[in-house]
Amino acid sequence: MIGETVSQVGNDVRVNGWVHARRDMGKIVFLDVRDRSGLLQVVCVPSELSDAAKKIVVDLRTEFCISVRGVVQKRGVKQVNPNLPTGEVEILAKDIEVYNPSKTPPFELDKDTREINEELRLKYRYLDLRSPRMLRNLILRDRVISFFRDFLHERDFVEVETPYLTKGTPEGAREFLVPSRLHPGEFYVLPQSPQQFKQLLMVGGIEKYFQIARCFRDEDQRGDRQPEFTQLDLEMSFVDREDILRLVEEMMIAMVKQCAPEKRIQTVPFPRLSYQEAMAEYGTDKPDLRMDKNDPNLLAFCWVLDFPFFEETEDGWTFSHNPFSAPTPEHMVWLLAKKNIGKILTTQYDIVLNGFEAGGGSIRNHRPEALRAVLEILGLSDKEIQTQFGHMLDAFAYGAPPHGGIAPGIDRIVMILANEPNIREVIAVPKTGDARDVMMGAPSVLPKKRLDEAHINLQDKQQVAGSKKQGKK
Ligand code: AMO
Repeated sequence: MIGETVSQVGNDVRVNGWVHARRDMGKIVFLDVRDRSGLLQVVCVPSELSDAAKKIVVDLRTEFCISVRGVVQKRGVKQVNPNLPTGEVEILAKDIEVYNPSKTPPFELDKDTREINEELRLKYRYLDLRSPRMLRNLILRDRVISFFRDFLHERDFVEVETPYLTKGTPEGAREFLVPSRLHPGEFYVLPQSPQQFKQLLMVGGIEKYFQIARCFRDEDQRGDRQPEFTQLDLEMSFVDREDILRLVEEMMIAMVKQCAPEKRIQTVPFPRLSYQEAMAEYGTDKPDLRMDKNDPNLLAFCWVLDFPFFEETEDGWTFSHNPFSAPTPEHMVWLLAKKNIGKILTTQYDIVLNGFEAGGGSIRNHRPEALRAVLEILGLSDKEIQTQFGHMLDAFAYGAPPHGGIAPGIDRIVMILANEPNIREVIAVPKTGDARDVMMGAPSVLPKKRLDEAHINLQDKQQVAGSKKQGKK
């Protein structure tokens, strides 16, 4: 790695990387070669180069992927570059190999690419990722995820993978559908969260579960929303609200200290507001409590609690957050009696960071009659309850433990730590605002044979690949 050359003065080394810049000084050519660890100056003096390398140097251009063999030497005092970690050394090249030449990139990679047209950046995401900021963001994301994993493993949590091909969970978002080839006319849906599975894992005796879970929601996009995103999903048995808040608070404080030590958390313990207070004082349930909104290193976490469980609409009652939540303990009687519905509060808690909802969770109803009461208030018939939630009610009839959990959104947390304006900047391959992956060209039309296999008969026949509109995105 290039970063290691500082301690290699006098040694014959080989470095691999990309030509970042090239400066011709008459016969001598200076190259900046870049790898993940940084930049290194390479000096190409004809008398030192192999015959093959002499020819290669002439054609080298930026973004060629090359290998350089040479001797690490200290730079002359005047040539030292204090802005580079490798600024005191350079390689005197002996041999150069070109792994692959490069076309001229569609945008400059040595600058911050934020100002470049985003569709272009996303089409060439593999080039955008070569820019230092994008690399930094992905590394930060990896560090945050590893931190969470280690933190929870140290506390006896078990990471369990739950299915992606599943049945819908009515948590409020529209779901992506996957047609079944083996069962004509039937569909899987992609989970909008592992909510039901993690609760069933609690029935299964796992007691402390977590998962770095991909979630899928077919919603309109915004800066802090993607159709697929990642949650740190967790659930615990035999806990109350306080246990979850304490665990998450401790985890967030330690994560910031380790992954973003330049940041300062404004208030510890995190302030707690009821939904009523948040709405009355800030007019939102995601208040930005930062004292100085221009301070890029200030983090203001807070908890928002005591949300109303149900909201009344023209079509009757709907749930405000999560149909699987328990009411606050004192409102359980109302829930079971299905009275004072508008006044029932849920155990739902949201963790808010700098004005973004960074996570949400609740203590769940583990008794079948309490879950049934919620579903009845939502207006579901016995038959609907049985077909949509029968598996949950059945499971709870086998000694389900009291349980609760939360799911912090990884993308939003990393976005805020990286001081980025949207979550696309911290996702390797995000979708555009209209939910397309412009690099891969998804979604795309498919040949009729593939559709037939999936038993799909399109209303608009023109949309089949091979028809006139082929290639339309
Ligand atoms: P909820 O729907 O509140 O709860 O989601 C939890 C957290 O996930 C993040 N998030 C998103 N991030 C990016 N793009 C999106 N489209 C998106 N939607 C949500 C947010 C949010 O706070 N099953 C429950 C959790 C639980 O009760 O344990 C759930 O999914 O940061």
